[in-house]
Amino acid sequence: MKNIWIIANWKSNKTISEALDWIKHVGPQLPRQNNLKIAVCPTFSCLSAVAEIIKNNNFPIMIGSQDLSPFGSGAYTGEESAGLLTGLISLAILGHSERRQNFGETDEMIAKKAQQARENNIIPLVCIQGADTPIPSRCQLAAFEPIFAIGTGKPDTPQNASCIARALKAKEAPGLEVLYGGSVNSNNIKDFISQKDVSGALIGNASLDVSEFITICQKTREIL
Ligand code: PGA
Repeated sequence: MKNIWIIANWKSNKTISEALDWIKHVGPQLPRQNNLKIAVCPTFSCLSAVAEIIKNNNFPIMIGSQDLSPFGSGAYTGEESAGLLTGLISLAILGHSERRQNFGETDEMIAKKAQQARENNIIPLVCIQGADTPIPSRCQLAAFEPIFAIGTGKPDTPQNASCIARALKAKEAPGLEVLYGGSVNSNNIKDFISQKDVSGALIGNASLDVSEFITICQKTREIL
């Protein structure tokens, strides 16, 4: 049976107290199932506070970052290195289109970040905008996120998401797990994850809302 990943990408949203409120409400409502991999990716400022609540309550949710440094620890002002994040996070979103567009991230930088993540036991979740975007070697988890669908309320079709996922697996590795991201919500989650080649969803706006995120996870559980 395939894994299904449901990953909340909060982007640059939520104060620490808002983040704690979210996890305290969401955590107890999350379904527990081995092949359902739920994760939340808060801002760096909220990571340790949210991680502590998850650990203390044994909530079935992993924690990830939305980025990490292409360099190791040391004289890199403003950067969060994978080495410093080890033990705190399980995965890192890398190469999101908002980082490529607003912060000039290149495929080369993203490949370095993925290597840093792997060397520090952090799963790189590489975002790609189409079947032509390169996926750094040995990455097992990718998210197909067409730019037109991000934050617009206009998702791609589940069929096209599946078609791209299939093409990526054929190109990279059969074991590659490909998520879909872009205007996923509780009304369309089942349409995407019921596609054979789609292994979950990366969710922005809809993940910020407590009841919406719980509903997404519960609907996912129903079809596993
Ligand atoms: P969205 O964002 O769900 O708000 O479209 C998804 C993403 O950018 O990861």
